[in-house]
Amino acid sequence: MQTHQVIMVVITTMAASLFTMPSFIRAESDACQPPLTNEADRISSLPGQPEPVGFGQFSGYIALDDQLQSRLFYYFAEAATNPASKPLVLWLGDQLECSNFGAFSGNGPFSPVCGNVLATNKYTFNQEANIIYLDSPTGTGFSFSANTTTTFATYIYNDTVIATQNMIFLTRWFQKYAEYKNRDFYIAGQGYATGRSVPFLANRILRGSTTNGINLKGIMMGNPLLNFNTDMGSIGDFLWSHGLISDKTHVLMETFCNGAKWLREIYSGSPFSTACKEVDDRLSAEIPDGLDMQDVSSDTCLAIFGLSSRITGGSKFESSKLFSSIRSLTASPSHEEVSEGTDVCVKEKIIKYLNRKDVQGALHARTTNWTACPRPFHYDKRGFETPTVDMVGSLVMKGIRVLIYSIDEVTFVPFLGTRVLVSDLADKVGLNTTVPYRGWFDTDKQVGGWTEAYGEMLTYASIRGGSSKVAKRSLSLLRSFLERKPLPVSKA
Ligand SMILES: *[C@@H]1O[C@H](CO)[C@@H](O)[C@H](O)[C@H]1NC(C)=O
Ligand SMILES: *[C@@H]1O[C@H](CO)[C@@H](O)[C@H](O)[C@H]1NC(C)=O
Ligand SMILES: *[C@@H]1O[C@H](CO)[C@@H](O)[C@H](O)[C@H]1NC(C)=O
Ligand SMILES: *[C@@H]1O[C@H](CO)[C@@H](O)[C@H](O)[C@H]1NC(C)=O
Repeated sequence: MQTHQVIMVVITTMAASLFTMPSFIRAESDACQPPLTNEADRISSLPGQPEPVGFGQFSGYIALDDQLQSRLFYYFAEAATNPASKPLVLWLGDQLECSNFGAFSGNGPFSPVCGNVLATNKYTFNQEANIIYLDSPTGTGFSFSANTTTTFATYIYNDTVIATQNMIFLTRWFQKYAEYKNRDFYIAGQGYATGRSVPFLANRILRGSTTNGINLKGIMMGNPLLNFNTDMGSIGDFLWSHGLISDKTHVLMETFCNGAKWLREIYSGSPFSTACKEVDDRLSAEIPDGLDMQDVSSDTCLAIFGLSSRITGGSKFESSKLFSSIRSLTASPSHEEVSEGTDVCVKEKIIKYLNRKDVQGALHARTTNWTACPRPFHYDKRGFETPTVDMVGSLVMKGIRVLIYSIDEVTFVPFLGTRVLVSDLADKVGLNTTVPYRGWFDTDKQVGGWTEAYGEMLTYASIRGGSSKVAKRSLSLLRSFLERKPLPVSKA
């Protein structure tokens, strides 16, 4: 497998469509619509769930159009204790073209273990907040468009269209869950896509003429793509400093074809330039197949790895794309407690679980062959060329608190670029460092990572230890962010 093919799942193909804000969204506050109720979306019980589940669970669809042709699927877990006094968090997916199955992995309440059993995630985010997991945009996970004549049915996207879908979802979600109106609200997510989807949605909320009950307080993003040149340009240093590539390849990347240029040539679809061809050949030779680029220190799920070679059989390009997308499923954090060490195969179990008809019924999802990253799906890659870091700056200026964090072992997007971008952003908006760069301590007194704070409004933090530590340490980050408390650091 060519190393660059791994990237195909990160950098998707492109297209654009005409789009205008549908008129019904402006008519939303009209009293003539019947009141919605969330009771129909309440989950009575999920197959295999641990008993008892001490919090309210809901899931189902929010329609994006009045003809009910396009619908976004969500799963909502109320906070395990005192939901009425806890904030509300919208969690967005990590990839632009894939389902947000975080509800069943990462920071969600559960994770599937052998067969039909769900295990409790002891680091679930709903200890700290009421949390909505959204499959967005239509075409990902359980979300869909039924009718090829409607606005959202083409599955052709850019950041604006995705923000519009998310905004319609939120507005209608708050109509359905009126008790959450005006609750402190946060948008969060982890993965390169959140560098786009999170600030775009936050911006859209602030631009609205009415708040619709959305009381946005802050945004939190992990390994976000904020500026393509800086973020992807730091990949060479990242690979080299982790020992994945040779000194010679590093020098070639520094001199002739850095990570940004290399990736740009891949997604352009044109043949490589001579310099990038050499870099690509070297990367493919030096980085072995089966290494999880989104956690370079962890093992790979060999079950999924093996599975992919059985599924393949089409053209090399198609099969590697499939391979890459399946392999990318191993990239997100797993649960430590599911097995000894990290369960690198947790995503394969999620696929099996979510494809069970009884599970789909319990979730109020339509019956479908669930795949995390269905094709075809077209995201306008030109969006990547527009940095979102200034948009984040303008949110800070408008009083939205921002936490940007990096899991240290992630290649796309590496902490090296993010750290520079956050520091530059602080300079730009005139924020001084209030907590200088220091190690921060987790609840178990281990070094959780490093942090630098720029007053209350802007914080950078890293998570040390890759995917095996993400569940625990990202919960600590969330807690300190929601409580407006700085991370505990070592003394100067
Ligand atoms: C997204 O697509 C719409 C319709 O083609 C266009 O009007 C808009 O400018 C695009 N937005 C971005 C950020 O490219
Ligand atoms: C598709 O949507 C159009 C416009 O809303 C509607 O007239 C048509 O009946 C729909 N088709 C189907 C198969 O639902
Ligand atoms: C799921 O896939 C199987 C096998 O390809 C097919 O027979 C079935 O109709 C599909 N079900 C749905 C709901 O699409
Ligand atoms: C940042 O520091 C500079 C120089 O010490 C000072 O002039 C400025 O007022 C500070 N800005 C803020 C927002 O505290």
